[in-house]
Amino acid sequence: MDSKKIDSTRIGLLLAICLIIVGCSENQPEERLPVETTYNTSLNVQQVMNLVLEPASDILWDSAGWVMDAAGYEDLYPTTDEGWEYVRAQAAVVVEAGNMLALPGRAEDEDAWMIYSQGLSEAGILAMAAAGAQNEEDFFQAGAQLYSVCTACHQAYSPDINTRFADSTAD
Ligand code: HEC
Repeated sequence: MDSKKIDSTRIGLLLAICLIIVGCSENQPEERLPVETTYNTSLNVQQVMNLVLEPASDILWDSAGWVMDAAGYEDLYPTTDEGWEYVRAQAAVVVEAGNMLALPGRAEDEDAWMIYSQGLSEAGILAMAAAGAQNEEDFFQAGAQLYSVCTACHQAYSPDINTRFADSTAD
């Protein structure tokens, strides 16, 4: 008798809260959606790589170190505040790409995949800090750390990528 009373009070309370939340809308959701469906993971891992992570990382790597060309040595580091802010923003994309890869529906497992995804974010944070401080040496190191995370994850989950990677960065 008592517990029935509590149940109906509870249900009444829940209903009241629901009504407040949905603003008396007609199509109230019957129950909460599973967490996974609240993320839009329609881009697959390959698309996240090609469209989000690689473009941002390439800008970081192209902004660190030196190259030798016909004109001699060229310093690749940004030379203006705006230039450093730009690479800092690309590093922020890398930080968030780590989270994107770790999302349910995209992560391949709960173990090594998560460690590599976090490693991506950590390298991105280092690159952001170095860019913020305009510290060339730290920025270079962050880029190297980033590269090692990419290759480690590819080695584990898609080994043929590293061969292609090495080919395209060799020239
Ligand atoms: C958490 C694991 C992981 C990390 C970290 C990671 N990748 Fe990947 N990457 C993958 C997987 C898995 C594939 C294969 C995707 C497929 O083809 O389905 C891939 C594929 C790629 C490809 C090939 C895409 C294609 O068109 O076949 C590129 C380019 C790439 N990654 C770039 C990068 C770069 C650059 C980084 C580091 C900045 C990086 N990845 C870090 C897991 C990772």
